[in-house]
Amino acid sequence: MWRKLENLNTIAETGIVLIIRSESEEEALSVAEAAIAGGIRALEITMSVPGALDVIKVLSRKYASQGILIGAGTILDGETARAAILAGAEMLVSPQLNPDMIKVANRYQAVTVSGAFTAKEIVETLEAGADIVKLFPAEAVGPQYVKAMSAPLPQAAIAPTGGVTPQNVHEWLTAGCVGVGVGSYITKAAKDSGDYGRVTKAAEEFLQAVAAAR
Ligand code: 3PG
Repeated sequence: MWRKLENLNTIAETGIVLIIRSESEEEALSVAEAAIAGGIRALEITMSVPGALDVIKVLSRKYASQGILIGAGTILDGETARAAILAGAEMLVSPQLNPDMIKVANRYQAVTVSGAFTAKEIVETLEAGADIVKLFPAEAVGPQYVKAMSAPLPQAAIAPTGGVTPQNVHEWLTAGCVGVGVGSYITKAAKDSGDYGRVTKAAEEFLQAVAAAR
């Protein structure tokens, strides 16, 4: 239980969950290492990464003891949820409400981030026992949508995903989001050049933008 609170606190403190959706195991590991060097402390390895469970295993063995939260994303069923937890994931993320994932995660006290879009879906997500509501795809609605939803549903801890950048993150946080899910802005910084120092710099830039917005 305390571990879960520490993990939730890690997300709350840094305000960013980095989503790694790389095309290979090696790239995912390089991006993760570079982002951690830039200060990222919560990472989601999506199950679409080839060898995702191995990536989770390597990262969680190396970093869990350093208070870095390694999670698994795009979890679509209970079996994958359990496999991810056995590989070392302490956070499970799904693009939609998946009660089996939440049930397995809660059994092991893993953090859950569950996708929802409408008021109905947000309430169902809370009732299912998820910790954080992932507003996805966030760019389709914008920060004003979170503001509107938070009026009747202030109890929902909402984190937008999709299209969040250092330039617009303050709008999301001002609208009441607990944090944000970030993918391409950081993960694609090394694309073409292969210079992972750019990933580190993009992570630093993003974290500074979050800190400035608070
Ligand atoms: C994902 O699941 O990959 C997210 O939607 C990432 O969105 P972003 O790349 O726009 O941050």
